[in-house]
Amino acid sequence: MDLDALLSAARKKREPLLRSSDTTARRLFHGPADGLDGLVVEQFGDVLIAQTFAGHRLLPEEQLRRAIDRFRHEVGARAVYRKLFVSDRSAVPADVAAMHTNPRPWLGEPVEPEITVREYGLGYAIHPYDGFSVGLFLEHRENRRWVRSAAAGRRVLNAFSYTGGFSVAAAAGGAVSVSSVDLSKRYLEWSKRNFEINGIPTAGQRFFRSDVLDFCARARRQGRRYDMVILDPPTFGRLRRPARTFVLDERLADLLRGAVGLLDPGGILLLATNARSIPLDLLGRDLGAASGARECTILDPPILPPDFAGDPDYSKTIIARIT
Ligand SMILES: C[S@@+](CC[C@H](N)C(=O)[O-])C[C@H]1O[C@@H](n2cnc3c(N)ncnc32)[C@H](O)[C@@H]1O
Repeated sequence: MDLDALLSAARKKREPLLRSSDTTARRLFHGPADGLDGLVVEQFGDVLIAQTFAGHRLLPEEQLRRAIDRFRHEVGARAVYRKLFVSDRSAVPADVAAMHTNPRPWLGEPVEPEITVREYGLGYAIHPYDGFSVGLFLEHRENRRWVRSAAAGRRVLNAFSYTGGFSVAAAAGGAVSVSSVDLSKRYLEWSKRNFEINGIPTAGQRFFRSDVLDFCARARRQGRRYDMVILDPPTFGRLRRPARTFVLDERLADLLRGAVGLLDPGGILLLATNARSIPLDLLGRDLGAASGARECTILDPPILPPDFAGDPDYSKTIIARIT
């Protein structure tokens, strides 16, 4: 297999994205959609992140390294950080975790612990060696843009908010309030940093360190209501105190009921998932069931970003109005 040719073809397909000056983060190689299962390459400014799948023998290591290094020069990147995808993030082997936090890159020169990228003009902090995930899920580029365009005057709840990508987009779009809910204190702090990068005062924002289901139950009891809820849960996770696993297939119905219960009439739900086990039509049916007697109108979702084209099972989004 000629990886150089696959990488070049993938880059050519993305020329219009590469020319954009207000968006400096994009996926340059999208696994099977670009001809090689088990390899993902993303660009964050002048840094590349190369993900390979643990246990997946793609190519002889030296061949992979040489091809990615040539590609790095082709796109003018200073460094490539390597990440090994392990599906259970709570059971990452120590050597893999050490690799994910090593400031020395796989290829090129070490870079700063934080770099800033732009997406449709908004800034986001990226940490190239702070773990497997670097701070921004690029498949949501168009979803974030949609949220920004629809947020004016709305009270927005961002559940599973991670580093606050959707929260910043909502605030930039004129949301009257944005509540971000995540279990991780570190990610909530990172969200505040993203607000700061964009010059948005965090005083008007709310940050809740909580399990989303617990948050929904509490918020409902307290009478809090929203005009837009963003629900982008992980597919699988392990929670501490009390120790339990989170399997999306098992929790989706509860999450949807929890989210719908917090929406005032006419409110919008944006539901997104990468779970391959949950097809789009099932998401729609589950949302209809969770809406009960309330009318649930499915709206046209934004297009999948062109750098994610060719793998429709990967990233799915439903946007609905609940009356
Ligand atoms: C898939 S990411 C969400 C990505 C985010 N929507 C975005 O686009 O930036 C999963 C996030 O959910 C958080 N998380 C996992 N389980 C959770 C739970 N039960 N309650 C709240 N947050 C949780 C993790 O800490 C992580 O930040």
